[in-house]
Amino acid sequence: MEQKWWKEKVAYQIYPKSFMDSNDDGIGDIQGIISKLDYLQQLGIDLIWLNPIYKSGTADNGYDVIDYYEIMEQFGNHEDFDKLVREAKKRGIGIMLDLILNHTSNKHKWFLEALNNPNSKYRDYYIIRKGNNHRPPNNWRSIFGGSIWQEIGSSNEFYLHSFAKEQPDLNWENPEVRQELYKMINWWIARGVKGFRLDAINCIKKSDFSEQGIPDAADGLCNCFKYIREVDGVEEYYKELRQNTFDKYDCLTVTEAVGVEKEKLGNYIGENGNFSMMFNFDITYIDVINEDWFRRTNWTKKEFKQKFIESQLNIKNLGWQAQFIENHDQPRAVNKYIKDETQINYYSKTMLAVMYFFVKGTPFIYQGQEIGMENFKRKSIDEFDDINSISQYKRAIKEGYTSEQALEFINKRSRDNARTPMQWSDEANAGFSKVQPWIKLNENYKNINLRQDQKSDKSIFNFYKQMINLRKTSKYSNTIIYGDFEPIDIQDDEIIAYRRKDENYDLKIICNFSNKEKELNLKYEEVILNNYNEASNILKPYQAIIVL
Ligand code: NOJ
Ligand code: CA
Repeated sequence: MEQKWWKEKVAYQIYPKSFMDSNDDGIGDIQGIISKLDYLQQLGIDLIWLNPIYKSGTADNGYDVIDYYEIMEQFGNHEDFDKLVREAKKRGIGIMLDLILNHTSNKHKWFLEALNNPNSKYRDYYIIRKGNNHRPPNNWRSIFGGSIWQEIGSSNEFYLHSFAKEQPDLNWENPEVRQELYKMINWWIARGVKGFRLDAINCIKKSDFSEQGIPDAADGLCNCFKYIREVDGVEEYYKELRQNTFDKYDCLTVTEAVGVEKEKLGNYIGENGNFSMMFNFDITYIDVINEDWFRRTNWTKKEFKQKFIESQLNIKNLGWQAQFIENHDQPRAVNKYIKDETQINYYSKTMLAVMYFFVKGTPFIYQGQEIGMENFKRKSIDEFDDINSISQYKRAIKEGYTSEQALEFINKRSRDNARTPMQWSDEANAGFSKVQPWIKLNENYKNINLRQDQKSDKSIFNFYKQMINLRKTSKYSNTIIYGDFEPIDIQDDEIIAYRRKDENYDLKIICNFSNKEKELNLKYEEVILNNYNEASNILKPYQAIIVL
């Protein structure tokens, strides 16, 4: 397995709006991040992925970009950003940005020009088609609900938006659009950015618009994934993109590409892949069908285990993945994967951590995960900020669910669960800000916060630190990073076990994914990580161990 600098790192994801507020306006900002760099260094991470900091219309919290070259005023300015890059570098930390190449904001100057002037060249920067007597060109549903098409005034001309109507899709068929994007990326690389996360990158090519889908819900529309994700030939764009940008600088790239089939993984990673790594989404949506939050599955541990192991076997000889259990689009992992709320505790949190942290790939930690932050239940739909939560709520109602049921679906899956402010202490506003934050704090912050956690003998933060040290600076580092992955065949769906192995060590990672004691028929000599004080041949509830 080829050695690469980015394989050996641990990354941390920051949602800038909710990380740390430096100037008491209730909104997290770049200076706030700078003030916490020592904390992140102490944790041991090497890379920070920042969710979008560009000037944006905030319809989708930064993912509707008005100007790729400007920084959102609330977050700071270019000086702040340069300082962040410098200060992070001093601590051995690199900065990664989010690249939103599939769409812009409807307030981007290109789009405004396109609308204001039908003869302008910017018209072809977007995807605009004639409708049918004011009806959209087809019946595809956008990812945030409603038709994927929006009529321009009453012109019978429609633009395509894969996400919200405030996020018109760029036309990648137009070479000028592509060149504009490459130029912008290179400009950020020159500013000292070490890598990028590529938003919705497998959506940049669309299939033939004449195709109507079979309606699959009460709104009479059909899910668009089939038509806008992984469309044949999309990899040609990837290749041109990287050749014009990242390749020249040994830049780290990690894709957000959901729904890539096994046969196509090679377009992304490995010898002929176009990116450094891809986020592993194989278990992320195990609880819902087609990302419709009201279509809940009854997933089992058996299915979970199968998916988890298979996911590793699919890539182990192919390429590199970015491993994660939380991000800004997902509920907190412990709430998603531990179905019984009474079992949400230090042990289940650290067990989930061990499970994903030691497979092959670069681990990403989402802010707050390292102190065991949890979902936040809201009592009414008015309390939500996330555009997708509101849309999913409306869709659930349309499907015939009651408002209580709809609220329950949204509470389980809302992206706001991960977007509540970071809980630094039990002081006012959780130490995030001196004023009331832009989004409601999780009410549990008096009990769950960094200061409290660090004082406890069951500190989740300390456990993450231990995991990071083991991976980065122990004698097992090479085995953990580059060693082979092999599942350990244990006939119990509630035990997830695998080995990481090379010529020096044979590490066994064993996780009890249950609150029951489990007998373990496996001999070992030395325990190198354990979320309990002792280890025996009986695994304790949610015990996780790494042994030799
Ligand atoms: C994926 C991002 O992670 C999500 O937050 C965003 O809403 C969509 N892409 C659209 O950019
Ligand atoms: Ca602020």
